[in-house]
Amino acid sequence: MSAAPHIVVLTGAGVSAESGLSTFRDKTGVWTKYDWREVATPEGFAANPALVHSFYNQRRHDVVEAQPNAAHKALSALEARLEASGGRLTLVTQNVDDLHERAGSRRLIHMHGEIMKSRCAICGDVKPCTEDISTESLCVSCKAPGGMRPHVVWFGEMPLYLDEIAEAIARADLFVSIGTSGNVYPAAGFVAEASSIGIPCTELNLEPSENAYAFSDRRYGPAGEIVPRWAEEIFP
Ligand code: OAD
Repeated sequence: MSAAPHIVVLTGAGVSAESGLSTFRDKTGVWTKYDWREVATPEGFAANPALVHSFYNQRRHDVVEAQPNAAHKALSALEARLEASGGRLTLVTQNVDDLHERAGSRRLIHMHGEIMKSRCAICGDVKPCTEDISTESLCVSCKAPGGMRPHVVWFGEMPLYLDEIAEAIARADLFVSIGTSGNVYPAAGFVAEASSIGIPCTELNLEPSENAYAFSDRRYGPAGEIVPRWAEEIFP
């Protein structure tokens, strides 16, 4: 690896688990309590917008209560060390929480959107959002009622910033996946993209993910322990 590497990190729900936010597919995960078709698809929203709003309002409350953990902090500290020596860390997250930015990460791509923002489905305006959203919420830009939704990507919708992510992976010296089960594409395919062009790939997770076999380096344990250790080792 070069003296000042460009590292691309992909994170998933596991990186926020020790901050008290539920993952999706673990034994007590979100999708064991809710049907994703009802709360995380455009069809579910059209059928029962009140249910979808209450689901995301609760998740927003949970995020506000949560604090960044040692893994979030280690990634922002690693980014600062890399930037100071001419390297770069591009952090791509599937998480809609804001714990990476609250830990200080700067070059951050929210490919599945952000729960702390709302979007008007009528005019497309995206705004910071700390309040509950309801079917009666008005858009502050176009003033229309009924179009407000969380600024998150649902199943069946296109993830955000895919061109920027592909470009970052193409220029990376190392691809690292942290706290994701590898079930949801296109994120789950980034490791194949990276390894097909010869980029070494590291998996940091509680347990082997669906595509663990694709990683040349694998380390397992709680993110709050293994991420700080890995970050110090890779670029002290
Ligand atoms: P999952 O719930 O599918 O996977 C979380 C992963 O984190 C699992 O492999 C766990 O073993 C691991 N994990 C749990 N606790 C951990 C800890 N303390 N330290 C390290 N790893 C831990 O969540 P994602 O892979 O993020 O999308 O899910 C991807 C997407 O599916 C989400 O962005 C969301 C979801 O449906 C949408 O809602 C569109």
